[in-house]
Amino acid sequence: MTNRFAVILAAGQGTRMKSKLYKVLHPVCGKPMVEHVVDQISKLKMNKMVTIIGHGADLVRAKLEGKTTFALQEKQLGTAHAVIQADKELAEEDGVTVVVCGDTPLIQAETIEALMNHHEEQKAVATILTAYTDQPEGYGRLIRNKEGFVERIVEHKDASEEERKVKEINTGVFCFNNKALFSTLKKVSNDNAQGEYYLPDVIEILKNQGEIVSAYQTNDMEETLGVNDRVALANAEKIMRKRINTFHMKNGVSIIDPEQTYIELDVTIGADTVIYPGTILSGQTVIGEDCMIGPNSEIKDCIIRNGTSVRHSVAHNSAIGENVQIGPFAHIRPNSNIDDDVKIGNFVEIKKASFGKGSKASHLSYIGDAEVGSNVNIGCGSITVNYDGKNKYLTKIEDGVFVGCNSNLVAPVTIGKNAYIAAGSTITEDVPGDSLSIARARQVNKENYVNKLKHNQ
Ligand code: UD1
Ligand code: CA
Repeated sequence: MTNRFAVILAAGQGTRMKSKLYKVLHPVCGKPMVEHVVDQISKLKMNKMVTIIGHGADLVRAKLEGKTTFALQEKQLGTAHAVIQADKELAEEDGVTVVVCGDTPLIQAETIEALMNHHEEQKAVATILTAYTDQPEGYGRLIRNKEGFVERIVEHKDASEEERKVKEINTGVFCFNNKALFSTLKKVSNDNAQGEYYLPDVIEILKNQGEIVSAYQTNDMEETLGVNDRVALANAEKIMRKRINTFHMKNGVSIIDPEQTYIELDVTIGADTVIYPGTILSGQTVIGEDCMIGPNSEIKDCIIRNGTSVRHSVAHNSAIGENVQIGPFAHIRPNSNIDDDVKIGNFVEIKKASFGKGSKASHLSYIGDAEVGSNVNIGCGSITVNYDGKNKYLTKIEDGVFVGCNSNLVAPVTIGKNAYIAAGSTITEDVPGDSLSIARARQVNKENYVNKLKHNQ
C-alpha cells in the first residue's frame, strides 16, 4: 500500500478572530478546531502526521501532544512556507501527502479518504478538494480552462472581478505526490497581494510542468467551512452541534429542540433519555437510559445513571445514581457522589458530599464536605457549617438520621445512626445513635405581656 502522510497547518495567529487565543485553539463544541482536524486525520492511519505550529506553539503542542508530531514555523510567511517546515520529517519519503488547514474543524475523515482515492484513480500529482458555494468571499477560487481542466487557484485578494464570480472554491485540503510537493514548494514566489508564499500556487507550477492536477468536488460545503472570524466560528459550532445532536437522536435519545441543546463531542447518552431545551452537556459526561435532563441544565464531567432527572440545575464532576431527582434549581458541585433513589430538591447546594441510597435534601440546604448515609432526611433550610474561615471540616450523618428544619451542623461533627435533630438546633457536639438532640434556647411564653406593655404607655 502507498505510504500516506499528513501535514496540518496551524501556525497562524488568526488576526481576523481579534482574540488573545490563537485561532486554531478556539473550541468548536468544546474541542479546539485543530484537534478536530487531527482527530479526523488520525482515523486514516497515516504513516506520519506533522502539525505546523508557530503562534502559540507551546499551547498548541500541549493540546495535541501524543497525537501528532510537530514542526515549527518561526515566521508565518504563508501556507507554502508552512508546509516546507515539514521537510525534515517528510521530504525524502515516497508516498501521498494530504495537507489540511487547522481552521477547518468540520472536515471528516471519509471526505479526505475519498479525496485520496480520487487522487490515485486519476494518477494525479496534485488533487484539490473543492466545493461550490454561493458565498465564495474570502476563499481561493478554482480556475479551470475551457475544457474544464484545473489551471490554478487564485486567492480572493488577487482575483479579478471576473475570477471573483467563480463559485468553486479551494477548501484548503490537498493531496500531493509527496516528493513532487516538496520539490515544487521551493519554486513558489511571494509576488502577490499579501506578499505570502501560497500553497495553492504549487498547483499552477505543477500544471505548467505538464503534471496531472485534478480537483475532487465535495457536495458538502458545510464540511469544508474555513473559520477565519467569530461569525464563521458560530457557524461551525452550529453545524457541529447539529451533527452531534443528530447522532444522539439516531441512537434513541429524544432531543426536544436540537437547536437549543448543546452537547459536546465526548458526551454519551443512553436510549430513551429525553433532553429538554437549554441544556449544556460537556466534558466526559455519561448519561444513562430513561433520564430526563433539562430544561436549562448544565452538566459537566458527570456520570448519571438510568432513570434520573436533572431539571433546571447545575452539576459538575460528580457521580449521580439511578432514579435520582435533582432540582429544580439545585447545584451539585465537584466530587459529590449521590447514590440511587436520592432527592436533591430546590435550592439545595451539594459540595464534595456523598449521599447514601434513598436520602433526601428536598429544600434550601447547603451540604458541603459531608458523608450522608442512606435514608437520611435533611429538613428544609438545614446546613453543614463546614468552614471556620481557615479550614474545612467533615460532617458525618449516619444512616436513618432525621435532621429537623433549619439546623446547623457545625463540623467536625458526627450524627449517629437513626438520631433525630430537633428543628432549629445548632449542633456542635457529636450526637449518639438513636438519640434526640435539641440544641436551641428554650421557648418562654410571657402570657399577657403585650397587654402590660400597652397599659404602660
Ligand atoms: C486559505 C487558502 C485559500 C482557501 C482557504 C480555505 C492559501 C494562500 N489560501 O486561505 O485558497 O480557500 O484557506 O479555508 O493557502 N498558516 C500557517 N502558516 C502561515 C499561514 C497560514 O500555518 O504562514 C495556517 C493557518 O494557521 C491556518 C491555515 O494555514 O490554519 C490557513 O491560513 P489562513 O490565513 O486562514 O488562509 P485563508 O486566507 O483562509
Ligand atoms: Ca482560513
